[in-house]
Amino acid sequence: MLVIPPLSNPHEAICTHLSWEAVVDFNNQQFFAKAIYDVTIVSSEVPSLRLDTSDLDIQRVDINEEPVTFSLSVPDEEKTHLGSCLEIDLMGVSKSAGSKISVAILYATSPTASAAQWLPPAQTAGKEHPYVFSACFVSVLFNCVHVMKSLTYHIYVCILIYSAQCQAIHARSILPCQDCPAVKMTYDATITVPKWATAVMSALSKESIGTAEYGDRVFHFSQKVPIPSYLFALAVGDLDSRDISTRCRVWSEPSMVEAVAFEFSQVEDFLKAAEELTLPYQWTRYDILCLPPSFPYGGMENPCLTFVTPTLLAGDKSLADVVAHEAAHSWSGNLVTNETWAHFWLNEGWTIFLQRKIMTKVHGDEKFFDFDSIGGWEDLKESVALLPDKYTKLIPDLDDGDPDDAFSSVPYEKGFNLLYALERMVGADKFAPFMKAYFNEFKFSTITTEKFVAFFESYFKDVFKDVPKIKEFDWATWLHHPGMPEKPAFDRTLSEECEHLADAWISVDDGETGKGILPKHDISDWNTGLKTCFLDALISTCTDRKRPLSVATIDWMKVTYSFHESQNSEILFRFCMLAVEAEDATILPIVARFITTQGRMKFVRPLYRALYHSTMGSELAVTTFFKHKDFYHPICAKMVVSDFKSGQKKKKSFGSIVSEKLQKPLVFCSIVALSAAVGIALLRGKRM
Ligand code: BES
Ligand code: ZN
Repeated sequence: MLVIPPLSNPHEAICTHLSWEAVVDFNNQQFFAKAIYDVTIVSSEVPSLRLDTSDLDIQRVDINEEPVTFSLSVPDEEKTHLGSCLEIDLMGVSKSAGSKISVAILYATSPTASAAQWLPPAQTAGKEHPYVFSACFVSVLFNCVHVMKSLTYHIYVCILIYSAQCQAIHARSILPCQDCPAVKMTYDATITVPKWATAVMSALSKESIGTAEYGDRVFHFSQKVPIPSYLFALAVGDLDSRDISTRCRVWSEPSMVEAVAFEFSQVEDFLKAAEELTLPYQWTRYDILCLPPSFPYGGMENPCLTFVTPTLLAGDKSLADVVAHEAAHSWSGNLVTNETWAHFWLNEGWTIFLQRKIMTKVHGDEKFFDFDSIGGWEDLKESVALLPDKYTKLIPDLDDGDPDDAFSSVPYEKGFNLLYALERMVGADKFAPFMKAYFNEFKFSTITTEKFVAFFESYFKDVFKDVPKIKEFDWATWLHHPGMPEKPAFDRTLSEECEHLADAWISVDDGETGKGILPKHDISDWNTGLKTCFLDALISTCTDRKRPLSVATIDWMKVTYSFHESQNSEILFRFCMLAVEAEDATILPIVARFITTQGRMKFVRPLYRALYHSTMGSELAVTTFFKHKDFYHPICAKMVVSDFKSGQKKKKSFGSIVSEKLQKPLVFCSIVALSAAVGIALLRGKRM
């Protein structure tokens, strides 16, 4: 039984295959496309096919090659994230349950499509060596038509990379579709791009690359494993690639390709480890595309082609666990897919579980599993402290809300901890075969929590008749209660030294032991994991005691460890958080640089929030964001604005700066929030 999404109607007529033809127009920042769907009629009575769209200009719809009438609904102002419903008339179409029709939609996307980012050269790695400019110069000499094309593409328009990020419900901004994960379909695609560009997709590339008018290049793709719309992905730009194993290749801008190949060279080991834990890899190839720095996530598990942020390029493979995570999604998420976004924990919780199993194998140290889980527990604590109760339940109350608003560590780490609790209850020797059976049972289909619980219970009843504790397992609390779960007794062997050092710094901060008495001054032999564990322990203690470190302690830490100069994004991020909270003004230029040279939401959002809440950086947060707004991916920009808005409610000052800068719909909210903030401030007489 399909879960019925708000706008589209897959329960009445379901798309099973997409043939997509798109011409990527860098000039106008849009593409002109034709989506041809194979649709299976579920109910013979269905009056129309309804598809999700957002910001699309629909020009024509044909069914079985005959034009039909269609309409686009006006977006609901309260739920703009849902976009508009494209309703295609099926009344005149002869159909019976089980019959197939072909639906062809001709349309153009908008330059403001929420999934997409069109990047000018200034935001790409190659900005100082514009390969495309030299290509253009050659064209100037030899071919007039090419001159016009090249000038338009490379000089006046200057867009080098286009990429689309569809999860959770942004696919509708580049493709009319049944934009819910319960619907899976195969696809093939033909993409026409300027001759300097390369197109890559979440699919296998077909051998033949053709040329079209003006020397444009044509790329062909095919995805034969059915996928949900959120895994539809495309990137176009000046791209180069290197093979790193028989089934893995990295892609990036030419200047970065060697660094990317080095950083992710372990990917084959990750895949082999995951195959041992689950079942053979089903997607043929596992390529990785390293995007420009404004990519809003650490990674995105687009099938056959994981997208990653360049903030993983630490130079020592220390942040490659994100690739292990995305590779693990090849089973949890891409093969066994959450049926609705309310069951997102089954994608991410399982993926964190597999990621930790993979990394434990790769590290060759059993204790790594709990060490990494401790870091995850800290992330979970932060999310739970920040979010309303409805989003801290494992199955959140999403209703028709924007899934981007609910995004947090909760599905990841609470989900992980549920699986870990189950593993401890039944024993690792029994959980391992269960895990294989689970992926085998639900591969190529979709999963809900109810299906998961039923499968778990029946598996242990049928296969292992001797696990009595199962009957007492408190599913209700795990699944439906907000807040933190019960804390397990993690093995702290590997984290102990870090926590001990953090305690010593806290006592230095409290003036108890004096600067000279630290258990360990030189941590240069510590790996990134130990350093982030130490910084996490400091952040956690400061949160618990509701008091930041003093500026003097931050200063001393800078002298001792130089974290503020770290090239490692995870270390720099944590230290910046500590320093902003300490109101250390000398960190401001470092933070400003960090949040304007990469747009990964994991780093950018907490730092903007912390700056905005600080006394020293409140104004800087707002001015910096608005100065660099176009640098960020639309999803990231939307979330930072939303964080400012919630922050305003808690502050008495600077609301007016935000109000001035935010666009029309937000001005009203800002004024209301500002009045509320002033009211609260008058009552409390203090900055909150
Ligand atoms: N699928 C997610 C990213 C995502 C989630 C995009 C929801 C849009 C909506 C991806 O697999 C992910 O979890 N990335 C993490 C990696 C980390 C947990 C190792 C990230 O981006 O930080
Ligand atoms: Zn993930």
